[in-house]
Amino acid sequence: MRHIYSGKVRDVYELERLNPHRLLMVATDRVSAFDVVMKETVPSKGQILTAMSCYWMERTSDIVPNHLIAKFPNAEVIGEPFAEEFVGRSVVTARAEMIELECIVRGYLAGSAYKEYRSTSTVHGHKVAPGMAPASRLDEPLFCPSVKNHLGHDENVSIEAAKVMFPSSLVDKLAELSLAIYSRGAKIAEAAGIILADTKFEFGFAEGELVLCDEVMTPDSSRFWSRESYVPGTEPEQYDKQPLRDYLEMTGWDKTPPPPDIPSAVLESLARRYREVYATITGSDISEWLGDAAAALSTARSDFGD
Ligand SMILES: Nc1ncnc2c1ncn2[C@@H]1O[C@H](COP(=O)(O)OP(=O)(O)OP(=O)(O)O)[C@@H](O)[C@H]1O
Ligand SMILES: [Mg+2]
Repeated sequence: MRHIYSGKVRDVYELERLNPHRLLMVATDRVSAFDVVMKETVPSKGQILTAMSCYWMERTSDIVPNHLIAKFPNAEVIGEPFAEEFVGRSVVTARAEMIELECIVRGYLAGSAYKEYRSTSTVHGHKVAPGMAPASRLDEPLFCPSVKNHLGHDENVSIEAAKVMFPSSLVDKLAELSLAIYSRGAKIAEAAGIILADTKFEFGFAEGELVLCDEVMTPDSSRFWSRESYVPGTEPEQYDKQPLRDYLEMTGWDKTPPPPDIPSAVLESLARRYREVYATITGSDISEWLGDAAAALSTARSDFGD
């Protein structure tokens, strides 16, 4: 395998010898806040992100095909010995030409969307009913695309502006698909007592076909709120990273690298929250996923005769 990219969370390898059109995407336990990656890691976070993305890709593949080729890679699938530390946190995907448009869907008035609403009564340029409190549910989910700018922070673009950068019919298609996947996800999460306030999708073209890529409706790409503690008017605590954000705010860190040291109690409470949101939404403990991943590994081992 050839290492081709490391993002904030994922390490990406090309299956060079076997099939250069395929990637091994490894979700590490790295955690970022305010766009800065911490020095410490959150135990099992990568496995949970991987399991959750697979969960959603399987439940939305009737809406749009996705990049997933093998959820439990092993030596057979990648064509060389499979490193123990990748087990349960890596998938083989189609290598896509990514569309450089972050497809954000907002179902609730949270974060920067509320700030915009407060000053202009719009959300991403869409006119929205007046007088709404923070964290209110929007009448209908809105497609709010953004692009990465050269400073690394994303920048909102209107649908009209997106249509100048990309073919108009493609932007319409991305909007339609993003809203459909969000609605499916929000409905499933809602039934489990979780509000999917907003989320981000990435799409690409693999062998000419439009496919859903990257991670799907994970705590890293979404705002999940507990329905139980939801009160419109106050933005609910975000399920996952809140203990980290709270800790960082408390230290008075200026949000530029290097980040401060994170105490292990904070890391453990983060790990607990990732596990909890996974279990609540999918109804299964991450240990089941890990068991399946380990079993896939040993199957291939015996096939290989070692
Ligand atoms: N099927 C795919 N083919 C090619 N690239 C993909 C595919 N799926 C996801 N990617 C890209 O792989 C990378 C995953 O890494 P990660 O999520 O850690 O990056 P990030 O820090 O979120 O984003 P970036 O570094 O791009 O700003 C992203 O750049 C994503 O766009
Ligand atoms: Mg990413």
